[in-house]
Amino acid sequence: MDKQIIQFPKDFIWGAATASYQIEGAWNEDEKGESIWDRFSHAPGNVQDGDTGDMACDHYHRWEDDLKMIKQLGLKAYRFSTAWPRVLPSGTGTVSEAGLDFYSKLVDGLLKLDIEPYITLYHWDLPQKLQDKGGWPARDIVDAFVEYADLVSRVLGDRVKNWITLNEPWVSAFVGYDYGAHAPGHKSRHEALAAAHHLLLAHGNAVPVIRRNSPGSNVGITLNLTPQVPASPSVADRTAANWVDGHINRWFLDPLVGRGYPQDMVNDYGDEMAFIQPGDLEVASVPVDFIGINYYHRSVVRSEKVSEEENTPRTVFSGDVTEMGWEVHPESLYKMLGRLYFDYDFPVIHITENGAAYVDEVSADGEVHDPKRVSYYARHLEQVHRAIEAGIPVKGYFAWSLMDNFEWAYGYSKRFGLVYVDYQSQQRIMKDSAKWYKTVIEKNGF
Ligand code: FCB
Repeated sequence: MDKQIIQFPKDFIWGAATASYQIEGAWNEDEKGESIWDRFSHAPGNVQDGDTGDMACDHYHRWEDDLKMIKQLGLKAYRFSTAWPRVLPSGTGTVSEAGLDFYSKLVDGLLKLDIEPYITLYHWDLPQKLQDKGGWPARDIVDAFVEYADLVSRVLGDRVKNWITLNEPWVSAFVGYDYGAHAPGHKSRHEALAAAHHLLLAHGNAVPVIRRNSPGSNVGITLNLTPQVPASPSVADRTAANWVDGHINRWFLDPLVGRGYPQDMVNDYGDEMAFIQPGDLEVASVPVDFIGINYYHRSVVRSEKVSEEENTPRTVFSGDVTEMGWEVHPESLYKMLGRLYFDYDFPVIHITENGAAYVDEVSADGEVHDPKRVSYYARHLEQVHRAIEAGIPVKGYFAWSLMDNFEWAYGYSKRFGLVYVDYQSQQRIMKDSAKWYKTVIEKNGF
């Protein structure tokens, strides 16, 4: 007989997450404006196999069935993002009622099923019109984001009580503007640093606006946090690991809690950083109600550079890896949770994403058997539980992802879903991991 050994606190929030561009499709329907991901994926060579989010999971049309699926899974909470160009086609100014209506109906549908909506305002699909004006590296973006956050929180703030301003600003800034692997595909560290700063400033300015429009709500931000471990005890590797930690983790965590940008990184980047104006860092450090962490893997860091062009130390993954090539290392999640509480003092922590891509196939029995994903989830949830036992205030866990979807530069080649999506027929099939997760939610443990 199975013995249940892991029991979560009564009010633990069990959820799953998605993002607008990855699931909605309907890229140019109703009044929706073009996003930087529409532009980027439509240009040849940017996304694997030439895939685009034009159709994705067709969630824009199938949302009612998808709600039923969410209910069937037993989720208590659902994290999704609103597409900025769907509600403000040009980024600012004219509002699309059709766009707002879509999200309003989705929220009503969730609440009717007793599922708590968690909205991410920015999960990477910037209106192209705003990119044409300079995008995140240009300071005007800050007011534009506040206008957008104000609009969405005014319309939905009576019903939505959990808000995430930004998803993974490091990825928006550095993968989009420095490494060029994401939209808009630029390669400039200076642009990336300016983008990172304006993202933080946009977040800081939006928080009080959301709180005003949505009284009693919880407002936070989600970061991708990756523990960095030196590949050897050598000074060079240790220095490199500390550099990547500064680059990915501290560059965002420190300013959010009022410590400013980490000085070692400021020195190393050697950028003039004239985009920082007096008072900016106070704004960026407005206290949040929670920090969201997206955790997938740790990185083992070697001192040698990836390339001269990409001025970043090399990270290596080995051992137990997922289809992304990312090392499965649940204990590093535990460590990062401890750091967020004991070092950075965040009052509440939500794991806003955690999950794994594996090769999934529909078996002869019509089911999708994904034991590796079940194991991934179970091993990470063990560490979440361990963190809670240690007194760390982890209140929620959102599996990435509700269903297979458009995995950015990898297109549809990587499946992260609890639910399998047949992209030809748009049929959804609950994987074994979905069924397992459902029982975890029911029993509040496993
Ligand atoms: C995160 C993103 C999410 C998804 C996962 C695999 O960085 O926030 O949209 O692509 O990675």
